Amino acid sequence: MFNEDIQYVSGELCVENASLARIAEKTGTPCYVYSFNRIKRNFLELESVFASFSPLIAYAVKANSNIAVINILAQLGAGADVVSMGEIRRSLTAGIAPGKVVFSGVGKTGTEMEFAFGNGIGQYNIESLEELHDLNAAAVATRRIANVAVRVNPDVAAGGHAKISTGRSPDKFGIPLAMAEDACRAAAELSNINLTGLGVHIGSQIMDVAPYVDAFRVIACKTVELREKGYTINTLDLGGGFGIPYDNEKKFPYAAYSDAVRELIQPLGVRIIVEPGRSLVADAGLLVSRAVRTKETPLRKFLILDAAMNDLMRPALYDATHPLAPVVMADEPGAELWDIVGPVCETSDTFARQHVMKRQDRDGLVAIGLTGAYGATLANEYNSRPLVPEVMVKGSEWKVIRPRPDLAEILSRDQIPDWSQN
Ligand code: LLP
Repeated sequence: MFNEDIQYVSGELCVENASLARIAEKTGTPCYVYSFNRIKRNFLELESVFASFSPLIAYAVKANSNIAVINILAQLGAGADVVSMGEIRRSLTAGIAPGKVVFSGVGKTGTEMEFAFGNGIGQYNIESLEELHDLNAAAVATRRIANVAVRVNPDVAAGGHAKISTGRSPDKFGIPLAMAEDACRAAAELSNINLTGLGVHIGSQIMDVAPYVDAFRVIACKTVELREKGYTINTLDLGGGFGIPYDNEKKFPYAAYSDAVRELIQPLGVRIIVEPGRSLVADAGLLVSRAVRTKETPLRKFLILDAAMNDLMRPALYDATHPLAPVVMADEPGAELWDIVGPVCETSDTFARQHVMKRQDRDGLVAIGLTGAYGATLANEYNSRPLVPEVMVKGSEWKVIRPRPDLAEILSRDQIPDWSQN
């Protein structure tokens, strides 16, 4: 969780030059805190390792969709991979050029398609024939032409967890390889569809290059085959999925990935798109939480935080482990074993089991690392807990980029029907 932008300075954990303890004091806890320069650095690093094939880097907005986060990437020239009207609106508001927006997802509605056409969205990745026909209808209705990539399902297993593996045959994603030609034929025949290429996205939190190589082979072969049959394949969208080391694993092998793209994809002379989400933002974020209480039983010592599974779903959803560290380093020696939990009424509301940390007291601050991706975006209001605020740090400046919602406003959304008396 530590890097050039997240470090202890005189025993206090800082994001860039801002003290997390001060931010927590002013903003209250729990809160997400992001490093501006880390996000920027991540993008520039990716751009430089991919320089030899200069892809469009379409940031997968679902990883962290705060407009201030997307805006950093927009300024650097990123595109966006989006899956809903909300994500389209966030991306455009953040300054992403509409032509660099890729609209993905198996369930785009007609309304979303028409909205996308109205805003000049650059590419539609389609995942079924039915969707292709719906897209054509929306394009006709709005008098637009849709640039379409057919997302194929390469039948490759990949990803950190079965729940985020997306490229196997039984998965709902992509068009089976054997049906890809049918989709291209339909695309070529439909009046307002412009077939531009193929796409693939095999999963998330992938730490190894092998499944990418498998998928690239499949998509490259399909490209050659379809071109021979006269279809135009000018663009290949290679998806995202680059994993990050949550648990001291080795870094994703970007050099080997780039070699594979150069060897298998670049010779096809296509425009290349990649859709990274997690790798751009995960290590830029921390969830800062205060210990509400400690509790000791004969078997365990619990540190009960004010952050819970609704604020950070990944441990409960995927058994994910996130690094944890006290915000202020304790001076005293010694280490203890802690189960670090939230206040929600489920055993899955556990951030770490038997975690080695120095003595902790109630009111102490703890930072949960690598939570810039799929942290705030997966959060919900379970147990009527308001979404946590988000803070952006740049140098020694910091700003709340989404405030904590007001509980009264949350409650006022519910309406008792006037006929409900019994
Ligand atoms: N492109 C498409 C079509 C996707 O579905 C996804 C992620 C991405 C790109 C970005 O993948 P990334 O580079 O972030 O791995 N909530 C899960 C991750 C779900 C990923 C869903 N799709 C988690 O917290 O691990």
